Amino acid sequence: MLPRYLAYYERHGGLGKWAAVEKATGRFVGVFKLHPTESGPPEDLELGYRFHRAAWGKGYAAESSFALLRKAFTEFGVQRVFAQAMTVNRGSWRVMEKAGQRYVQAFFRDWPGGPIEGAERGDVEYAATREERLAQYS
Ligand SMILES: CC(C)(COP(=O)(O)OP(=O)(O)OC[C@H]1O[C@@H](n2cnc3c(N)ncnc32)[C@H](O)[C@@H]1OP(=O)(O)O)[C@@H](O)C(=O)NCCC(=O)NCCS
Repeated sequence: MLPRYLAYYERHGGLGKWAAVEKATGRFVGVFKLHPTESGPPEDLELGYRFHRAAWGKGYAAESSFALLRKAFTEFGVQRVFAQAMTVNRGSWRVMEKAGQRYVQAFFRDWPGGPIEGAERGDVEYAATREERLAQYS
C-alpha cells in the first residue's frame, strides 16, 4: 500500500492518508484519509479514520480530526470537508461533532460484498465549511 500512498501525495499536493502517532510512546495508532473523492468536486475533501482498538476511548480520533480539519481549511484552503459513517456507529458521529462538523443528511448505500450488520439503518454524513470553521481557529 505504501507506494500507492506515496504516489497519491505526489499527485494531490500532499493530500491522502495520514498516520496518527501517540506522542507519549511514538506508536502508530491509527490512519486517516483526507482527500477529494473520485466523484466529488476537487475542492471538497473527505475525512475518514480507523484506530487500533487499544487506542480507542482516549480522545485521539476527535483530537486528530480537529487538527486535520484545521489543516484542510488553513493550509490547503479547501472549501468543505465531509465525513460519513454508519448510523449505528455512534462513536464516529461523536468524533465528527467534536471535531467541528455538523449533521448534513442520512442516506442509504449498497455495501460491496453484501449487507453488513447495522447497514439497514443507513449512513449519516457530517460536514464543515471553511467559512464556518475559520473563526474557530484564531
Ligand atoms: C470510531 C473511532 C474512530 C472512535 O475513536 P476514539 O479515539 O475512541 O474516539 P474519541 O476517544 O476521540 O471519542 C470521541 C467521542 O466519541 C465517544 N465515543 C467513542 N466511541 C463511542 C461508542 N462506541 N459509542 C458512543 N460514543 C462513543 C466518546 O465518548 C467521545 O465523546 P465524549 O468526549 O463526549 O465522551 C474508533 O472507535 C474506531 O476506529 N473504530 C473502528 C473503526 C471505525 O468505526 N471507524 C470509523 C468508520 S466511519
